Amino acid sequence: MEVIIRSDAEGAATLVARIIAQELRANPHLVLGLATGRTMESVYRVLVRMHRKEGLDFSLCRTFNLDEYVGLAPEDPHSYRHYMNEHLFRHVNLDVRNTHLPNGRAPDLDAECRGYEAAIARFGGIGLQLLGIGQAGHIGFNEPLSAFRSRTRVKTLAPLTLQQNAEFFGGEDRVPRRAITMGVGTILESRRSVLLATGAGKAEIIATAVEGPITAMISATALQLHARCTVVVDESAAHRLAGSEYYRRIFATEPEWEEFRRLD
Ligand code: F6R
Repeated sequence: MEVIIRSDAEGAATLVARIIAQELRANPHLVLGLATGRTMESVYRVLVRMHRKEGLDFSLCRTFNLDEYVGLAPEDPHSYRHYMNEHLFRHVNLDVRNTHLPNGRAPDLDAECRGYEAAIARFGGIGLQLLGIGQAGHIGFNEPLSAFRSRTRVKTLAPLTLQQNAEFFGGEDRVPRRAITMGVGTILESRRSVLLATGAGKAEIIATAVEGPITAMISATALQLHARCTVVVDESAAHRLAGSEYYRRIFATEPEWEEFRRLD
């Protein structure tokens, strides 16, 4: 795992967008795992700008989102399909047939989950998985006690997640109780993962996820087992990290990060 600290949220989101762009240019057929939520909005804003100004090409790229609420139709304004259309898909040259989200209205949810895993496998697995982190440490909707070997399945949302997402639905009791989510095992199999967290509200959980003991109570700690995970944070989200001096030195000196340093 490596941790990159940027001075502010915009800088952190821009770095994540640059990592995605670098991977996409190296492999136009990239299978890109996507996340939703407030934090990701700035990443998508930068990607849209890069598409318009630098011609970043998504035409051959395939995407798989982490999750979708059970019971919401794709056209529902609260659905993650709608979020993705609004924030990314309709602004870039992604072929909508190449974009995948679980269908929260599938008549057979277990079959839907199995089919989602099969589709990921058919395209050779996720090349780069984008991740956010919830206050309780979930990645995707892998709530506390999610098995580290879990695959795409239906999860019941934890009370803190319902609270966190209440504002989008106009009250906690209106938030769907269940979601389809990629499993922790699905996420761990991605070839590269990038987790973005910004703001003081994420400082505690980031320190726990990155430097704390591995536990199924906090799904994000599983990323310590990921073959190649980059955690990108702003100063506010970094302030509880014990090893930040070391993390800063890696970004400042390692050749891998040279082209990103030049953007500062
Ligand atoms: C959603 C997802 C979630 C969010 C997390 C953080 O697709 O994967 O794990 O990334 O809940 O959400 P925000 O960014 O709204 O704090």
